Amino acid sequence: MLMNPVYDKLMKCYACFQEKTKFRPRVALVLGSGLGDYAKDIRVVETLDYHEIEGFPVSTVPGHKGRFIFGYVGDDPVVCMQGRVHYYEGYAMEDVVLPIRLMKLMGAEVLFLTNAAGGIRQGMQAGDFMLLTGQIASFVPSPLIGTNIDELGPRFPDMSQVYDRALQKIVRKTAMQLDIPLQEGCYVQLTGPQYETPQEIAMLRTLGADAVGMSTACEAVAAKHMGMRIVGISCISNLACGISPVPLSHKEVQETADRVAPQFKKLVTETILE
Ligand code: 6GU
Repeated sequence: MLMNPVYDKLMKCYACFQEKTKFRPRVALVLGSGLGDYAKDIRVVETLDYHEIEGFPVSTVPGHKGRFIFGYVGDDPVVCMQGRVHYYEGYAMEDVVLPIRLMKLMGAEVLFLTNAAGGIRQGMQAGDFMLLTGQIASFVPSPLIGTNIDELGPRFPDMSQVYDRALQKIVRKTAMQLDIPLQEGCYVQLTGPQYETPQEIAMLRTLGADAVGMSTACEAVAAKHMGMRIVGISCISNLACGISPVPLSHKEVQETADRVAPQFKKLVTETILE
């Protein structure tokens, strides 16, 4: 029988996972820049280094570790990605989203995506959190290009509601209870790795984007294809170019993420517990 090479690689990674652990997560978590130490809030049962999984894409960005953490938040079994790979690192889009697909195969029905992003909308400040209510993925290639993997989902999946409405409600309620101010809006993914010009930010604003980053939207497309329920939260680590008075740097992104990480982790944990 002819196998799709993308599906073939995914199944090999899945077989590798099954050999290493019997753990069955219900919730999958992807931690963005500076949020990698969320692991400390999890009752860790097992870890699995990405390089132990044959064919699994391994990140090269400083500050991104590379392993799965399996454990519990309250009574909920979770798998947490400590480190993700980005399209700008040179991976094919199907490799960028392979971990997402793998976590669905592991058993995760809910996907929590987090990232550091640049604020576009007027009134946003570094350190704000933004609940994703929509996204623009049109500036990056779709991870679904190529022969459709019918085992994963349909050829032409609906994207009218990428981010789960019921889960958005829970995040809002949780933020309110924790007294954490929460913005909401549309996330746009660009390939990077360069930050945007002021002209590009002006363009993105006219398109309705509220925050900009280099991840998440493609992962959400792959997850939605597989029928996962998705939550997205951005940490606005800096204002985008043309709004920020200072040139952007990865250092600023990481410093802000580090500063607000405790609040961010609380929001994630309490949302899972709800
Ligand atoms: Cl301003 N742009 C992009 N593309 N990614 C970011 C960012 C800006 N800030 C954090 N991540």
